[in-house]
Amino acid sequence: MDTPLVVVHYEKMIRNLDRMAAFARAYRVRLRPHGKTHKMPQIAKMQLERGAAGITVAKIGEAEVMAAHGCDDILIAYPLIGNEKVERLLALARTVRVSTLVDSFEGAKALSDAFLRERMRLPVYVKIDSGLHRCGVQPGEEAAQLVRHVVSLPGLQFLGLLTHAGHAYAAKDARDLQRIGQGEADCLIETAEILRKEGIAVQEISVGSTPTVRISGAVTGVTEIRPGNYVFHDMTQVRLGVATEEDCALRVWARVVSRPNKNVLVLDSGAKTLALDRGAHGVEGVSGYGRIVGYPDCVIERLSEEHAVVKVPDDCPLSIGDVVEIIPNHACPVVNLTDQVYVIREGQSAEVWRVEARGKTS
Ligand SMILES: Cc1ncc(COP(=O)(O)O)c(C=O)c1O
Repeated sequence: MDTPLVVVHYEKMIRNLDRMAAFARAYRVRLRPHGKTHKMPQIAKMQLERGAAGITVAKIGEAEVMAAHGCDDILIAYPLIGNEKVERLLALARTVRVSTLVDSFEGAKALSDAFLRERMRLPVYVKIDSGLHRCGVQPGEEAAQLVRHVVSLPGLQFLGLLTHAGHAYAAKDARDLQRIGQGEADCLIETAEILRKEGIAVQEISVGSTPTVRISGAVTGVTEIRPGNYVFHDMTQVRLGVATEEDCALRVWARVVSRPNKNVLVLDSGAKTLALDRGAHGVEGVSGYGRIVGYPDCVIERLSEEHAVVKVPDDCPLSIGDVVEIIPNHACPVVNLTDQVYVIREGQSAEVWRVEARGKTS
């Protein structure tokens, strides 16, 4: 097999899937994994076979691919703004159960108007900002105001509250992670209490990022978890203490193509394979663009499009033609950059799996 190559270690992936499914069962929360990490209906199917209640995606294009391959309960966890998206959402809602989130009065009204025109109702979550400061309304009264508006719109069915504690990726240590995970659940539960006192039913309390899911998902009152990265894990999760290198199922095989001097070698996996992303929402403590397995002293210092420049110690035994295995910093963009992955499984020949939903821009 030629390099560079994105490889999935089947047994590691299965262990990751099984562990999260067991966690969801133990805490009686619905697992709705985020498919933006793998973008492969094949893997979504494996998650559903292990008890996932449905799948989460970020884009309509991903939802369309998942629906075409048999996923019939899809949450698009992204504010869907613009007529083109609303039309595609309507078409999708005619074939599968689809839900989405809103974080604005305008966005909610536009969705409601479109669904009402077609005599349909769209199930929606209200997105809350639990500290990432990206999308979402503030917990408490600000969120309650938006929920009251959503409840009043005839084209929408209010499902519950949703957040994603992506700021956990910048957690300083395990205590900080614990605080962020607890806060992720608490801010939804406290907002739900305000609403329930007014007689508004809040069915879903939906949380989840891979670093926080075992904390927020264990809080009483949470009904749904949406981890994505856990299927593969990566060096970012290792750095956060959430996974070990052994758990990292997605790797890149790269070849040494040059050794310009004894302290530098060049691999054939550049930014177009490994991605320049050094980790989601926080890069503190990150050194280089991934870990070369078995060579902890070699640091991938620089990436250009097709080259990785690696600083190596004097006695590094690697030479031109050798193949190394790299655990990327962030698995999700690596998948999005490749058409297919090679799935390797003990005792079997490698299988090629297509990344069906890759590169969807909308
Ligand atoms: C809304 C939402 N939910 C869930 C996730 C999954 O997070 P992770 O990949 O950390 O598991 C993400 C990740 O970007 C997200 O944006």
